[in-house]
Amino acid sequence: MASSPIPFKPDGGKIKAIRGQILTFKADPFLHNENECYDYLADGLVVIQDGVIIDAGNYAEVSPRYPQLEQSDIDTYVNSLIVPGFIDCHVHYVQSPMIGSFGDTLLSWLEEYTYPTESLFNDKKFADEVAHQFFRQLLQQGTTTANVFSTTFAASVDAFFEESERYDTRMISGKVLQDRNLPDSLRDHDTKESIQLTEKLLKKWHHRGRQLYAIIPRFAPTSTPEQLRLAGELYQRYIDQGVYMHTHLDEARSEIDWVKQLFPEQKNYTDVYKHFGLVDRRSIMAHCCIVSPDEWDTLHKADCGVAHCPSSNLFLGDGEFEYWEAKNPRRPVRTGMGTDVGGGTNFSILRQLGDAYKVAMLQAKSLDAIKSFYLATRGGAEALHLENRIGSIAPGYEADIAVLDLQPSEFSAWRMKFTKTIFEKLFILMTLGLDNINKATYVAGRKVYDRSRDKKWMYASELDDKKG
Ligand code: GUN
Ligand code: ZN
Repeated sequence: MASSPIPFKPDGGKIKAIRGQILTFKADPFLHNENECYDYLADGLVVIQDGVIIDAGNYAEVSPRYPQLEQSDIDTYVNSLIVPGFIDCHVHYVQSPMIGSFGDTLLSWLEEYTYPTESLFNDKKFADEVAHQFFRQLLQQGTTTANVFSTTFAASVDAFFEESERYDTRMISGKVLQDRNLPDSLRDHDTKESIQLTEKLLKKWHHRGRQLYAIIPRFAPTSTPEQLRLAGELYQRYIDQGVYMHTHLDEARSEIDWVKQLFPEQKNYTDVYKHFGLVDRRSIMAHCCIVSPDEWDTLHKADCGVAHCPSSNLFLGDGEFEYWEAKNPRRPVRTGMGTDVGGGTNFSILRQLGDAYKVAMLQAKSLDAIKSFYLATRGGAEALHLENRIGSIAPGYEADIAVLDLQPSEFSAWRMKFTKTIFEKLFILMTLGLDNINKATYVAGRKVYDRSRDKKWMYASELDDKKG
């Protein structure tokens, strides 16, 4: 690991450390020689103070620098791999109660199951319950940051961020803007008011602790041109403060045809968003399965992020993502993984990697474990323009970490005997879709999830001044 430690603060919090095999990425293996893009340490040490990694490297080199570190301050993991916490670049927490609902086409699935479920989120108690469950699922899977759709109602936004604050997770969310082509129970009834409410929530939550705000028009068909225009204006006013724009783009053929009908004057779907000032450097586009070269150009030039959601695309029978187009070296686009729950059928980024491999294979391409684990960690951070804060294990990064079990079952322990490299092992983990792969999840240095603890999930406040 090349970067030098950041200074230990004698008057700062107590330091702690995590020891074991470590894997982290420092560059994009789609664009550079794969073997120069990651660091793998057979016996590494990550040193943490005040939620930030202050040192990381080989145990033998790093540990002598911290004589104050006692053995009881070090969590040591065997037969495990310490990785940056996974990043889910596109997910709907409000769809947790209807995950796994029968789908026919994207648009009929939305009508039948999604909209009725989201209509319930005016009830803060219900929103709290769903947020509670959602965070548990994410943390159990080793996901530490997500870019999340709530829904129309302020209660759905507050419930989400309040739960995120309890764990001190770095999360992105915001109110969903949708003022047409939806049931009355879910629709924004007044376009101007929907924008005012967005700004109010933005001011409340953006940069409060680790929380970040996104302006979220659901997708072009469910916003009037007026709502898209006002959303674009608001985005442009706040983009320099790091506010995001998050939406769906080019997911399914039927959706693209509908957008063409609704916005005949624009030359393609991306241009609809561009026309309203919504395509820019903090824009995250979910899916991007059926994208013309012109549109890839636009996304590249604007420096947008894209979320590849293979489990959802397979489940809903949408298009097939073309990673070689997204990562075309002449016009690469920042790309990460998304579960898209409830279109996606599970909360696991590892399982998304297994599905991404299959989506590529259907198109006679393949996706190896090096590229896959990059997409799940640093790639996601790059898509969200957070690659200087999260997604890597290195000094100065926020200490969001997952600990993967390399032998999660008796069978897998036996299967692993026939592997030679760490990437052969990781390919098996992402392919077999085994349960319970994640041993522990650290958020800002606190062990908020521990598979073997009586109380598996713990909030930040429960862990302060105790051994996290
Ligand atoms: N397009 C617009 N809304 C949605 C949604 O909730 N899920 C998916 N997969 N696509 C969408
Ligand atoms: Zn979605």
